Amino acid sequence: MRTIEDLDVAGRRVFVRADLNVPLDDGHITDDGRIRASLPTIQRLLERGARVVVGAHLGRPKGTPDPRYSLVPVAERLGTLLDRPVAMAADTAGESARAVVAGLGDGDVAVVENLRFEAGETSKDDGERAAFADRLAALADLYVGDGFGALHRKHASVYDLPARLPHAAGGLVLDEIAVLRRLTEKPDRPYAVVLGGSKVSDKLGVIDNLLGTADRILIGGGMVFTFLAAQGHSVGASLLETDQLDTVGEYLRRAERDGVEIVLPDDVVVAAAFAADAEHAAVDVTEIPDGWMGLDIGPRSTRRFAERLADTATVFWNGPMGVFEMAPYAEGTRGVAQGIIDSEAFSVVGGGDSAAAVRQLGFDEAAFGHISTGGGASLEYLEGRTLPGIEALDGASSD
Ligand code: 3PG
Repeated sequence: MRTIEDLDVAGRRVFVRADLNVPLDDGHITDDGRIRASLPTIQRLLERGARVVVGAHLGRPKGTPDPRYSLVPVAERLGTLLDRPVAMAADTAGESARAVVAGLGDGDVAVVENLRFEAGETSKDDGERAAFADRLAALADLYVGDGFGALHRKHASVYDLPARLPHAAGGLVLDEIAVLRRLTEKPDRPYAVVLGGSKVSDKLGVIDNLLGTADRILIGGGMVFTFLAAQGHSVGASLLETDQLDTVGEYLRRAERDGVEIVLPDDVVVAAAFAADAEHAAVDVTEIPDGWMGLDIGPRSTRRFAERLADTATVFWNGPMGVFEMAPYAEGTRGVAQGIIDSEAFSVVGGGDSAAAVRQLGFDEAAFGHISTGGGASLEYLEGRTLPGIEALDGASSD
């Protein structure tokens, strides 16, 4: 893979595909980790006199402009962090984008609107994606792929555009790949994986693969209730994916057969409603009351999870243990984060939610080996899949 140092960028228009998909609350950015992680590549290009055009997506608009997903707040934050003006186009690759790019001088930076405002960005139709990629290609002379978190998407700006321009991988993408390679190639052992988050169906591929590589898999978050149900527990009103019960049961049997330790909570925090001020209590997993929903792992399980992390040499963590955004359900996530730090293992935190949890719960990011900007992308990498964005950056351009 070429790096940005291999490109002659001075005075040239460089399209940087970044992942600036940050959480927003009422138009305010609640965690700017992905913007910060994108800075070094952009800064380096600007330093070398490039005219940088940043392209990114935000949320999942439906292929048409939607002000709720405008990149305007992101461009403003980028400007603050770069400490320089950032021009903002009102469209992705139309009249406004062309005018904004034409107005850039050497060392200037612009952001074009949310690439998912165009149906061609995410289209499954090769021709439709190609048409949008052609329009984006007209905005630039060179392409830098630095949106690690989107590399698993076969989207126009990730997959089709690099084939149209001389390209290189940005520093963030290279760092992320180097770390994940360390996990997939020869992890120091014991190697533990902590999985959480709401949907078990998002994690099936990775669990399947990890059953062959990890020594221990600790499971919490909303997804754990499908595991508990597969063990025969009644889970009340907790999240449950009934269509995955057989698969999950099969994983539990395979883990036992292959000597992979699966650590599930034996107590959980249940609440009468999905609210911070709802009545709540810690109960055994055998005693989840009807109508109550599990929103965190319980205190006994949190201690046990930390114990099962204490002697590890490598840890990968994806997904919070509970609804950490609400204080009564944050302790499981906090305990696991602390357990990872105390273990002194080489640790990788993957996924926007876990990374946000680390920051919002006040942990020092430097206490972890690596905080990945990719959720789905890091999971798919660990699944052993070829990511379309990596394939594209490895490939030749038609220049
Ligand atoms: C992410 O948030 O994981 C990336 O930005 C990709 O977003 P997506 O899942 O909407 O494609």
